[in-house]
Amino acid sequence: MSDTVFLGVNIDHIATVRQARLAPEPDPVQAAAFAELGGADGITVHIRADRRHINERDVQLLAATVKTHLNVEMAATEEMLGIARDCKPDNVTLVPERPEEVTTEGGLDVAGDPQRLADAVAALREMGMTVAIFLDPDPIQIAAAAEIGADQIEINTAVYADTSENRKPGPTETERLKVADVAQRAHAAGLRVAAGHGLTYRNVRGMVDIPEIIELNIGHNIVARATFVGLEAAVREMKALLVR
Ligand code: PXP
Repeated sequence: MSDTVFLGVNIDHIATVRQARLAPEPDPVQAAAFAELGGADGITVHIRADRRHINERDVQLLAATVKTHLNVEMAATEEMLGIARDCKPDNVTLVPERPEEVTTEGGLDVAGDPQRLADAVAALREMGMTVAIFLDPDPIQIAAAAEIGADQIEINTAVYADTSENRKPGPTETERLKVADVAQRAHAAGLRVAAGHGLTYRNVRGMVDIPEIIELNIGHNIVARATFVGLEAAVREMKALLVR
């Protein structure tokens, strides 16, 4: 029997194009609907402190209109927890955030800051949402995430993706096996296992081949392809690669 990995489509860069002109279009709320028509299992957005792409209006409207599953990535700050409380997405993914970064660089250091993150996880779960934590493929971080009560982890696939696309030197298979190893450990610890960052139509199969991974969150490469073929088609093509 065939099975497919859950595809969370990250639509931040639809909003990046909008913000480039401080214009009303393209609207990420419309993008979410097209992504769902193309077979997205969920919609993911990252609301950042600097609001460089997604803003509160987007999260509010997405929470009211997404038909599948809404995952909001955010830093564990009071401001962001307030937005979660107001908008009530289905899931929050806690991520680290540095103002000067181009994109999320590395996972959260749960082992180094367990109490603050445990408090954020408890607060979000109390609000009625599930909570994922974005982590590097490091066994120490996986054990720490299980201890603070997270429902899910999202393994950072950036190094795997960068080596596979020759943006970083080193054997891609070594990086793939690191992701596979922590996926197994997380699954054994009772965590749901997602992965993402930097994945493309070319390298995604290496992640689909890891049986413990049940969800992939993919943004930039889908939006890049959508500029040529449209978002619905771009999502459909990616979803077709997620069959096991
Ligand atoms: N997962 C997390 C936690 C992210 O921060 C991002 C980027 O916003 C992604 C997945 C998607 O990465 P990409 O846009 O490179 O596919």
